[in-house]
Amino acid sequence: MSASYEVRDGVAVITLNNPPVNGLGYDTRVGITQGLEQAQSDAAVRAIVITGGGKAFSGGADIREFGTPKAIAEPNLLSVIRAIELCSKPVVAAVHSVAMGGGLELALGCHYRVTAPGAQIALPEVKLGLIPGAGATQRLPRVLGLETALNMIVSGETVKSEVLAALPGQKLFQQVIEGDLLAGAIAYALQVADQRPLPLVRELKVTHPNAEAYLQFARNMVKGMSKNFPAPGKCVDAVEMSVKRKFDEGMTGEREIFLALMLTPECKALRHAFLGERAASKIPDVPEGTPVREVRTVGVIGAGTMGGGITMNFLNAGIPVTLLEMKQEALDRGVATIRKNYEAQVKKGKLKQDKYEQRMALLGTTLGYDDLKDADLVIEAVFEEMGVKEAVFKQLDAIAKPGAILASNTSTLDVDKIAACTQRPQDVVGLHFFSPANVMKLLEVVRGKATAKDVLATVMGVAKKIKKTAVVSGVCDGFIGNRMIEQYGRQAGYLLDEGCTPSQVDKAIEKFGFAMGPFRMGDLAGNDIGWAIRKRRAQERPNMRYSKTADLLCEMGRFGQKTGAGWYDYQPGKRDAIASPVVEQMIADYRKEQGITPRKIGDDEIVQRLVYSLVNEAARILEEGIASKASDIDMVYLTGYGFPLHRGGPLCYADTVGLYNVAAAMKRFAANPHDDAGFWQPAPLLARLVAEGKTFN
Ligand SMILES: NC(=O)c1ccc[n+]([C@@H]2O[C@H](COP(=O)([O-])OP(=O)(O)OC[C@H]3O[C@@H](n4cnc5c(N)ncnc54)[C@H](O)[C@@H]3O)[C@@H](O)[C@H]2O)c1
Repeated sequence: MSASYEVRDGVAVITLNNPPVNGLGYDTRVGITQGLEQAQSDAAVRAIVITGGGKAFSGGADIREFGTPKAIAEPNLLSVIRAIELCSKPVVAAVHSVAMGGGLELALGCHYRVTAPGAQIALPEVKLGLIPGAGATQRLPRVLGLETALNMIVSGETVKSEVLAALPGQKLFQQVIEGDLLAGAIAYALQVADQRPLPLVRELKVTHPNAEAYLQFARNMVKGMSKNFPAPGKCVDAVEMSVKRKFDEGMTGEREIFLALMLTPECKALRHAFLGERAASKIPDVPEGTPVREVRTVGVIGAGTMGGGITMNFLNAGIPVTLLEMKQEALDRGVATIRKNYEAQVKKGKLKQDKYEQRMALLGTTLGYDDLKDADLVIEAVFEEMGVKEAVFKQLDAIAKPGAILASNTSTLDVDKIAACTQRPQDVVGLHFFSPANVMKLLEVVRGKATAKDVLATVMGVAKKIKKTAVVSGVCDGFIGNRMIEQYGRQAGYLLDEGCTPSQVDKAIEKFGFAMGPFRMGDLAGNDIGWAIRKRRAQERPNMRYSKTADLLCEMGRFGQKTGAGWYDYQPGKRDAIASPVVEQMIADYRKEQGITPRKIGDDEIVQRLVYSLVNEAARILEEGIASKASDIDMVYLTGYGFPLHRGGPLCYADTVGLYNVAAAMKRFAANPHDDAGFWQPAPLLARLVAEGKTFN
């Protein structure tokens, strides 16, 4: 049973016991209702306290039961709350640490609520594309007033219990208890033991001087902020019912909205991303509890774009870093950039001056490898050339202490080859950060053939400490993310060849929801980066086919924003992309040379070719075992490549469209003489899933 029962001083204490956060799973719900029955049948019990054991009152639904029959099996949460309301003896919720979602709804069903200070109170359902589904949209406005309640429900943000308890006129908490919460709650329960009738939140009225106007204002605000997501607007609808309808009718309305939202693709996408984030941290053959190595100090080699950003991650987490460069100038430049970034944060009020100084105090610099000999983890971020990496790893191997983890931030090079430059390939791993490395959430952890399990377990833990979403990838050219983006880039090129302009392609995919289309992205990142990669690949794969427009662009010196011109023109000091007649002429000339008659291409075809190219390559990556699960690939794209969150990642999106439809489109594209028929053969895994009527996720 996931709830315990004891009687103390005539008060029954029901303690939720479902670690880590007392999720309201089936056993816990049964435990509460049985406790209520036992307490009512025991004449010696005068009142009841419900509290949570361990680190939470309750974090809400038990995510381990998501999608299983247990999640909705009776007694469901609504029935538990009804049983509390109908209890013949007063029920007091003793809230502490965390009361979120269903946990807060449970407390709202109790006759009284007391709290320890500092408890985190929230209704995060909106972040999963839902509204609260067990009465909070009707009860919270009754205890906190329309405005505060709506704010909490629409934002999903956490508010500390003592802040809510201090609001004038609030009825959420009857008492804030400093010190021993349970003792205080029992004392409070005895104090109210004989009060009748028992107070019920459902019987309160929502008062507001001008509810109609406020709700309209809220609706307008929410509309502007949540364009791709229906849930925030539905929160307003549900809360409106707490003002306009009788309680039970409001509850019915809440239920209807909740169930309708559950079926939306946006909700599916958000729940997928939520579970995908958790799943990504689990590596099938590296069990939880695998011993980890201690990482107390870090070395970073190369103080360029990536090295600087990587360093900041560790400084932010309070971990000292020694930054190594070849020359003092490069070192000074790198440190100056780090300072500049922090100073910008201080200026914007996002970082306190003393925090900034504390972080900088953790930074050491050096020109000599000897200073890295005590580092627990060293991350290399030097030029993307095998020769340079080889020299760095040989030097590292010579000085690093035994057991130190040696990591490379390479974007495309073979991590196994890098590992082979050392006598300790088991300690080598890829840690592929994304630019800007201090901002982007994604960290691809590249697992070499020899990488030890404890090294993997350690870096997954480190990733968590520096607040990254880590996804494990096997070794291949480009790993998960860049291998897929290569195909996406090839399609973008073919679309130009066949008749599109760069801005037409960008606009279509941006309308689909990408933050930036491929050409604007290229101009931002620097088109020369892709050029260098294509040159290397052309040597390794002489038969590689792609539109040469990107190379021609680079030959014109149009590297993007940094050179004032790329796929678009840029005015000095501005980032607005302006269509370039020079580029359009270059594309037209290339088409002529290739004998292609341009045609009008619709947005649907643009989006399908770009997104399905990701899907087909992803299917190959999955089948080869480069990624261990479909959701890992979706997490890479959601957190590292600006794939629209409301679509849940390329594979989640493909599942939503239907894999039969996706494969049928690929076959159509394969018949296009200007495209790559070989690439568009549906990957074997995809073909199999279609034949079996299955999905990726
Ligand atoms: N820029 C990106 O968007 C990005 C994203 C992910 C990964 N990467 C990878 O990160 C690595 C670094 O890229 P970057 O963009 O930061 O390059 P960069 O040119 O900005 O920085 C490289 C730095 O390394 C230093 N360096 C070169 N050789 C060295 C050596 N032997 N010892 C010490 N320092 C040395 C250089 O002086 C320079 O400061 C590359 O492997 C790249 O593929 C880059």
